[in-house]
Amino acid sequence: MNQFCHSFEHSYTLPSISDLYPEGDYAIIKRIPKTLIDSRFFQWLSSHNIAVSDLVVAWKPPQTQGLRNTKYGTIHSDGPNVAKINFVLGGELSQMIWFDQPKFVFRVATAINTPYRQAADSTLKEVYRASIKAALINAEAFHWIENTVSDRFAIQTTLVDAVTEQNLCFAQAYTRLFG
Ligand SMILES: [Fe+2]
Repeated sequence: MNQFCHSFEHSYTLPSISDLYPEGDYAIIKRIPKTLIDSRFFQWLSSHNIAVSDLVVAWKPPQTQGLRNTKYGTIHSDGPNVAKINFVLGGELSQMIWFDQPKFVFRVATAINTPYRQAADSTLKEVYRASIKAALINAEAFHWIENTVSDRFAIQTTLVDAVTEQNLCFAQAYTRLFG
């Protein structure tokens, strides 16, 4: 395994775009109810002693390649010890790109009060990239989404221990689910 993502096959039923945005407005990020997600997905996690502490959908419109600092997303970390399973709808040819750990990091406010971090370093070295459809991802490591063709919607589940409700880091979640 690499330390950034692990794609997997699944047969879960995913919500449609109109299920995710019944009002028709593509919020950049918003929480969604668990009832929108196939209960078999949560059963699979539960069988590995994992629960979901936060469930969101993030929208990213297509943008010019290499435009890395816009209101639709800068290079960031989702916070300390954040591993997620993401399901991506749309976003043809989009890639998730990971970077070296920056030297200087600061916390930023988000619309839904997630513990995001940004880098003060002006340049960060790319270290890994992948196309994501369904994958366990390391959201603690600094990352960014390159999306140039069509609207991209990422259903994101933050993984925690089912008993303690403490965040699981990528390696812990990987070992429980795929190790
Ligand atoms: Fe992120």
